[in-house]
Amino acid sequence: MTKTIAWGITGAGHFLTSSFGIFKQIKSEHDIRVNTFLSSAAEEVVRMYGLENELETISCGEYLEEIFLETQQGKSWPKTGRFLLDKYDALIVTPATSNTVSKIAHGTADSLVSNAVAQAVKGSVPVYVVPVDIAGVVISELPYGIAREICQKCDPCPPRDNCPNDAITDQIDLLKCSGCGICKELCNFNAIKGGPVELKVRDIDARNVDIMKELEGITVLEKPEDILEILHEI
Ligand SMILES: Cc1cc2nc3c(=O)[nH]c(=O)nc-3n(C[C@H](O)[C@H](O)[C@H](O)COP(=O)(O)O)c2cc1C
Repeated sequence: MTKTIAWGITGAGHFLTSSFGIFKQIKSEHDIRVNTFLSSAAEEVVRMYGLENELETISCGEYLEEIFLETQQGKSWPKTGRFLLDKYDALIVTPATSNTVSKIAHGTADSLVSNAVAQAVKGSVPVYVVPVDIAGVVISELPYGIAREICQKCDPCPPRDNCPNDAITDQIDLLKCSGCGICKELCNFNAIKGGPVELKVRDIDARNVDIMKELEGITVLEKPEDILEILHEI
């Protein structure tokens, strides 16, 4: 029988591309529908990482394969009521920002994804969360930006003049950027950067993950790939 997974995406760059990879794999290998819930920050970050079009290959827009945007959901999150109606077999939140983890850990439900978690637990729908900030140091991926110490301020400037989103001036406006990477290829001085960066996990974020691990109905996973291991439970 077809299973239905609700996928909550929050605004983290870390684990974002691998979360998309895992959901694409799940869709291709299993009889599973995916209904996506995006936080406002996720909507922006997904675009910055050039993944916007990928989303429609995972949630095609049909019933229970919809894409719910926080920006279109008011403040009472009516779409999360479905978690009480036996429509979903699981809710998987990946990647989960430290912001959303803090909300979940402390029972706050004032955003689309934290509210989805609250409703899922109330509706006995199993919840799986992949936090980005678990402990120690994490390697995250930065979106595109201009290294100003390298930029030669050329005029004409091929990256600026060919940006399909008109996102480049003396810097890149990430709210316009779609992560296509054309600019990086066109800069003759290799001044457009983006890629791995090392981040220290704050104590408070690590503590919130520990609190979340103790909560009823919620399972914490270490990385998106672990979703493949729990699919048989769903
Ligand atoms: C490019 C980019 C990458 C980000 N990556 C992370 C991240 O890896 N982890 C994190 O906790 N926040 C990250 N943030 C910050 C969150 O988007 C921000 O805290 C937001 O308020 C989270 O809201 P949400 O939890 O409702 O999605 C990132 C922001 C940007 C612009």
